[in-house]
Amino acid sequence: MLLAIETSCDETSVAIIDRGRVLSNVVSSQIRMHAEYGGVVPELATREHLKNLLPVARKALHEAGVTADQIEAVAATRGPGLPGALMIGLRAAQAFAFTTGKPFVGVHHHEAHLFSPWICGDPPVAEFGNFEPNVSLIVSGGHTMIVHVETEQKHRVLGATVDDAAGECFDKTGKLMGLPYPAGPEIDRLAGQGNPKAHEFPRPMMNDPNDDFSFSGLKTAVRYFIRDHPDSLNNQQRLWDLCASVQSAIVQVLVTKTVRAAKRVGVKCVTASGGVTCNRALRAELEGACRKAGLRLRLAEKSLCTDTAAMIGILAERKLTNGGASTSLDEEIAPGWALA
Ligand code: KG4
Ligand code: ZN
Repeated sequence: MLLAIETSCDETSVAIIDRGRVLSNVVSSQIRMHAEYGGVVPELATREHLKNLLPVARKALHEAGVTADQIEAVAATRGPGLPGALMIGLRAAQAFAFTTGKPFVGVHHHEAHLFSPWICGDPPVAEFGNFEPNVSLIVSGGHTMIVHVETEQKHRVLGATVDDAAGECFDKTGKLMGLPYPAGPEIDRLAGQGNPKAHEFPRPMMNDPNDDFSFSGLKTAVRYFIRDHPDSLNNQQRLWDLCASVQSAIVQVLVTKTVRAAKRVGVKCVTASGGVTCNRALRAELEGACRKAGLRLRLAEKSLCTDTAAMIGILAERKLTNGGASTSLDEEIAPGWALA
């Protein structure tokens, strides 16, 4: 029975994991508070984690029907993430391990994302029996990367964004359109009624031979477009078309590069996780492209796309049961920890 904590950004989450099963996964999102400022304010995030961690942990224990003294191991995100935010979860987990003498595992947030597409069902269970080598797209407000996952333990980053993350691009272009933060879900909704071919926005680096991404040029193109066509925002159909066109540019780059990388490295499976994986167009386009390329696709379930302690706990438990060493209680947070 393992208790996992995730506090790397703006979600306070605690999960209880038992032999690959997610007994509870409580997520307290701070998004509404940060929305007022148009983005995540690190100092506020830290304070909110501090305030919410114990209530979230109590709720997770209650929902799982277990008591704190039944917990046999504890895990927390060590990095990457916001320093103050990481510190709350990591230190709480280490303090728990110190006082109880139970093992502690410090987890890499991106490595955990690689595992979330394998957690399925209700209640969710990790399907490690079905694991196969894959190319994984991690795409959220803070990260955009393609990873070659050769085995459960062995992975290699093939490429990442050189500037903005894809979610950041949704949020920033949405802000230019006057949409509230985070704009990603709103663009998804509005784009549903728009024409993705209405405007031809750049597809940055789509045809470059590497697996890297760049989204800041797209953001600038949208800024100039709105400057030159101010009427594009004052009519509903035009706003829908703009949303659909921007979304289409982001999605096409993500899908093209992910599927191309999978074909090149020779895997038969593509996975995806991170907040942007909730995007309906991305899910549909990935499905179509993978079917065409003869690749199996595993998308993280929508409730497990975003940052949750479930993925942290599933990975930590797997590491412990595979004979992995626990993490020293002296280990510090690692805000800039890069996935190898
Ligand atoms: O995984 P996540 O919660 O973690 C952070 O990086 O904080 O991802 C949040 C990001 C935001 O940028 C948000 O706009 C984006 O994911 N997002 C979406 C959708 N849902 C969330 N972007 C496009 N379409 C969506 N449906
Ligand atoms: Zn994340």
